[in-house]
Amino acid sequence: MKLKEILRGKLTSSEIKHVPSSFEIVGDIAIFADFPRELRRKEKIVAKSLMNVHKNIKVVCKKSRKYSGKYRTAKLSILAGEKRKDTMHSENGCKFLLDAEKVYFSARSGTERARISNLIKPNENVLVMFSGCGPFTVQAAKKAKKVVSVEANPVGHKYEMINIELNKIKNASALKGDVKRIIPRLKAKKIFFDRIIMPLPKDATSFLKEALSVSKKGTKIHLYTFANKDEIEARKAIITEMCKKYKKNCRILDVIKAGEYAPYVHRLCVDFIII
Ligand SMILES: C[S@@+](CC[C@H](N)C(=O)[O-])C[C@H]1O[C@@H](n2cnc3c(N)ncnc32)[C@H](O)[C@@H]1O
Repeated sequence: MKLKEILRGKLTSSEIKHVPSSFEIVGDIAIFADFPRELRRKEKIVAKSLMNVHKNIKVVCKKSRKYSGKYRTAKLSILAGEKRKDTMHSENGCKFLLDAEKVYFSARSGTERARISNLIKPNENVLVMFSGCGPFTVQAAKKAKKVVSVEANPVGHKYEMINIELNKIKNASALKGDVKRIIPRLKAKKIFFDRIIMPLPKDATSFLKEALSVSKKGTKIHLYTFANKDEIEARKAIITEMCKKYKKNCRILDVIKAGEYAPYVHRLCVDFIII
């Protein structure tokens, strides 16, 4: 039975119209992104009913603050179920332990992560910047020769180490710290990558200089950004210009819509190659 059907009799018909039709499931936690103000007094009823519909959901939360700050974390309020925010999420055959409040994680990006890992060839050295609890790192490591990842959030890094272990990954090294501080050290050791993943859509272009410094001819870069459809060409031009500024030439390979950030604003991945 659907959530709205189960709520008939518990909510008025006008209240039922406000019941959100979508929520994200991370492990066994359901997360409402925008819980309507109109249902504030009924949120526990809605949350308990959701658990009745989906027996595998053990915690229901609402986002009381959206992703923000350097670590891109959200504030979650528990509406029903167990009093915890940590969970085990399965994605593309891998397992990820994480705290949904202390670490950024979007289950909706699972298809995009599969797309990227399917592009990776067995001889590649891959750099994952902004690696969070390690979803790109683990999935890339299953395909690549070696993966190096960088994450600033100490809690994210802790979970990434756990997830590398949990998925029996032996060819990944997760580094804790700021990309601006860590990448110059890799460059000093003359470590260059075949592929670089930059999953920080809010700000990835500010780290392009660092990415380019550890790239070489043939390196493929996946840079995430937020843009509406009218801004796509400008984003491509900015990337091309920045490459030139740092003495690299690039060719844009593809622009992939990898989710929605807001109405009409896409989460885009610009794939480009250094030539
Ligand atoms: C949008 S999240 C992506 C996390 C992960 N890649 C995923 O797909 O779930 C961006 C991550 O970048 C990290 N971050 C932000 N600025 C950073 C920086 N300057 N250096 C290293 N990590 C950073 C944040 O802590 C956050 O975990």
